[in-house]
Amino acid sequence: MRESRFHVADQTHQAWWRSAAIYQVYLRSFADGNGDGVGDLAGLRSRLPYLAGLGIDAIWIVPWYPSPLADGGYDVADFRAIDPIFGTLAEAEKLIEEAHAAGIRVICDIVPNHCSDQHAWFQKALAAPSGSPERDLFWFRKGRGEHGELPPTDLQSIFGGPAWTRVADGEWYLHLFAPEQPDFNWDHPAVRAEFEDILRFWLDRGIDGIRIDSAAVLIKDPLVSDTYEDNDGIHEVYQSWRRIADTYSPSRALIGEVWLPDHEAFARYLRPDELHTAFNFAFLGAPWEADKLRYEIDMTLEVHAPVAAPATWVLSNHDVTREVTRFGREVTNFAFADKRRDVPSDLALGTRRARAAALLTMSLPGAYYLYQGEELGLEEVEDLDDALREDPMFHRSGGVDPGRDGCRVPLPWSGSTAPFGFSPSDATGTPWLPQPAHWAELSVAAQQGVQGSFLELYCEALRIRREDPALGDGPMRWLESEPHVLAFARDDSFANVTNLGTEAAVLPPHREVLLSSVPLNEDGTLPPDASAWIRLA
Ligand code: NOJ
Repeated sequence: MRESRFHVADQTHQAWWRSAAIYQVYLRSFADGNGDGVGDLAGLRSRLPYLAGLGIDAIWIVPWYPSPLADGGYDVADFRAIDPIFGTLAEAEKLIEEAHAAGIRVICDIVPNHCSDQHAWFQKALAAPSGSPERDLFWFRKGRGEHGELPPTDLQSIFGGPAWTRVADGEWYLHLFAPEQPDFNWDHPAVRAEFEDILRFWLDRGIDGIRIDSAAVLIKDPLVSDTYEDNDGIHEVYQSWRRIADTYSPSRALIGEVWLPDHEAFARYLRPDELHTAFNFAFLGAPWEADKLRYEIDMTLEVHAPVAAPATWVLSNHDVTREVTRFGREVTNFAFADKRRDVPSDLALGTRRARAAALLTMSLPGAYYLYQGEELGLEEVEDLDDALREDPMFHRSGGVDPGRDGCRVPLPWSGSTAPFGFSPSDATGTPWLPQPAHWAELSVAAQQGVQGSFLELYCEALRIRREDPALGDGPMRWLESEPHVLAFARDDSFANVTNLGTEAAVLPPHREVLLSSVPLNEDGTLPPDASAWIRLA
């Protein structure tokens, strides 16, 4: 890889992943190149100029492997191939090359905790007898009860319902997620060797970073304990992965999906010989309230400091309610357990707050992740027909939880009617989930170059974020402010002020307003639910 292709920012910051703005591509819903109604690699390649223009540093592509899609592709049938619905391995290699040529790094998603029940190893395990080496790669166990008719333990799956499923010969296997996602046995050396090989397979193809799915739950003994998070032995796995990443030049980045409420336990994954960064879900889940956000920001920085890892800042992803909808509700935090249907949302208020939240988030110290469509101000699509919903979280909760389909609806690119340029004009298929009619106004074409649009706010913010050396990784200090205002400086010159109150806020003395989420009041004060980037006087 030729480093010179990348932005100047990469040379001025210590390592790209410490400061990067990383765009999450949900491939099925990004852009459809072949007209079958499902996003694919051809679509993504054709939209690389858009991504380069947006000013992001890297893309993270969610699983692109062959999959029966029992969990949106997180049920992987073959970790070394591309699902034909998305394209071919040769196209993935082309994509990596073209992205690099456009100054964009590529992160792929590895799912080490489980595979699809269609994966060759699991199929062999099903065909093999109890106690066989094939079954040893997973968690097969005898059931309880007189005839083994009860699951080995009462452990519940993260998606609801029992975490054990019975097979034809009467044994049960463990799945922390859906039954179509059997858990690997990470105590087995063959599982470890297999994943180390898979890592090399992708890193050898020029992949710049790996997003590690469900990174904290690999090690478990489900018969001894119901605790599957953060068990002993997990760190050895990532130390060995880090050694592999470090054999490449420059070293490739390891990014953990680590949902752990215990901050110290979280930070242990980020020690210098383990993962480079991990997603900041505590910040993502915080409500639109100054004291709670301030607490999460302080806590994040405190937790990362001893391990010298950069923080990450995330407002949304393919698993959570889009923030335009979330911030327009009465309760503005995010928690999986509380997700319900038909919760009213004031989308105009949510949009206004999401604009402010973007400026707050992009100016915090560290890396920043944005989820496709976030830059367009898309809302959660809540009125999908139940028959179209695919998410096991919806089905396994008996429909109590609306599931995650609503944040995965195909993007609107252009035009006044669906598919809004998502598929080519001669497409034979319709988008795999229907797009709301009013997305005509939110399409890329409808917003591009339009002053004050959501997209233009993102472009401008990403441009400044990239050019100003004070942004990205580095220090921050709080400025004095009213309790409902968050104000901090990144150096002597750059400051962000976000007003979460109901009254206008006075900005600290400044030379210039670089960008604001809404126009300032005539007297120069910052209106409620707004954020501004300023040059301090
Ligand atoms: C986390 C992924 O982000 C989510 O989409 C998936 O359902 C689970 N891990 C299981 O792989």
